[in-house]
Amino acid sequence: MKIYIKTYGCQMNERDSEACAGMLVEKGHSIVDSEEEADVLIFNTCSVRELAERKAIGKIGIMKKLKKLNPDLIIGVMGCMAQNLGEALLKKLPHVDFLIGTGQLHKLPDILESIAAERHQAALLEESPEVLTGMATHFYGRENPLFAYIAITRGCNRYCSYCIVPYVRGREISRDIPDVVQEVKKLVDSGVREIMLLGQNVAAFGLNGDTNPPPEGVSPFADLLHELNKIEGLKRIRFTSPYPSYFNDKLIDAIATLPKVCHNLHLPLQSGSNRILKKMNRQYTAEQYLTIVNKLKSRIPDMTFSTDVIVGFPDETEEDFNATRNLMNIVDYDNAFIFKYSPREGTPAAKMADQVPLEIKEKRNEILLKDLAVRSERQNRELIGSTQEVLIEGPSKRNPKRWSGRASNAKMVIFTPEPSMQIGGLAKIKIHRATKASLFGDITD
Ligand code: SAH
Ligand code: F3S
Repeated sequence: MKIYIKTYGCQMNERDSEACAGMLVEKGHSIVDSEEEADVLIFNTCSVRELAERKAIGKIGIMKKLKKLNPDLIIGVMGCMAQNLGEALLKKLPHVDFLIGTGQLHKLPDILESIAAERHQAALLEESPEVLTGMATHFYGRENPLFAYIAITRGCNRYCSYCIVPYVRGREISRDIPDVVQEVKKLVDSGVREIMLLGQNVAAFGLNGDTNPPPEGVSPFADLLHELNKIEGLKRIRFTSPYPSYFNDKLIDAIATLPKVCHNLHLPLQSGSNRILKKMNRQYTAEQYLTIVNKLKSRIPDMTFSTDVIVGFPDETEEDFNATRNLMNIVDYDNAFIFKYSPREGTPAAKMADQVPLEIKEKRNEILLKDLAVRSERQNRELIGSTQEVLIEGPSKRNPKRWSGRASNAKMVIFTPEPSMQIGGLAKIKIHRATKASLFGDITD
């Protein structure tokens, strides 16, 4: 069958879609780029904010037209929204043939086969740990052959009061170290040079869902980084997203000492106000967060940070917001995803008093976006004259006479290629010009 997959949301969803495509192609199906030529439409959905759900529902609704033209068309919805809305979604969109929740994604090829053989509506929504290994090792359509996502944990036990993820992605489960190492070795053999380890709470890797952050000296995630760092041919390791209170000295040490771990960390802050952090059920204070950042900065001077922040959480005052703004300037993030708080049914924050009006959320969002633009322009300018180690990706999209690659701090670097350069290799590039989006330079001898 010809299958079209549309993905909403986070990197884990991108990875899940890629694994599903891989499983389907292994079974003899093909993946197509347009809805019109497909026999099967699959929507991999997100529930983190209301808008993400609304967009997907709108899109799937329109697909009714295609089904009228082609009654044999099979339509499936998978991922977080399928899990969140369950059977109610089938009632709302009766032209949908099947739902697959976050614990059952690995069963996609089977369910497709059974629906194609005999038309029926199906909903697979149970939580299941098998999804973790079931989805591993299947890859298809990676855009950049040097780069791969690897899901190492799934689920989240933190229950931040605003967040729907623990309800729709279930309890934390992790793969084991040898399994991940083996997968990465295979990927490296096929040309991958940089990996991004994924998990809703990636630093909880290997803790078997223990609800508290680990004590000093315990960090299975750090153990994993040590093992991955040993893999010959692998050049770089990134990961997202770690929860701040999992950064004990053992993990900080691993990040500071392992040469393949990149000098750019996505460390979700959410708020810089202790009052709001508490209401969010985040298990750290602004001071503790800053201690982690400062420890990392003192060990790794060129470390850069990015973050997630929510504006307009219930009862967030001007003072709370300014605490967030200040902390963002102190940490000096070079990138930030700024979210307007979106109430999610079933989460404690949705029922809290003093919901913040949309205009205020928008105003605060704009202020933080402006701060971010000012900071990143200044930071890029400050990198002029520095030397950056770049993973060479090949000819740049805009101007093929120039080549591009990413620095360890995740910035895009454009440079003049030299005959000795190899795609997938590392090169030292001296930066002589910077724009908002990129750095420009030449190889150093
Ligand atoms: N730890 C997860 C984060 C999941 S959600 C991961 O690694 O992918 C991603 C971000 O969305 C969160 O960090 C938070 O900033 C934001 N978010 C979650 N729930 C939200 C809500 N109800 N409204 C607005 N933003 C939200
Ligand atoms: Fe959501 Fe908090 Fe987990 S933001 S994914 S409940 S760490």
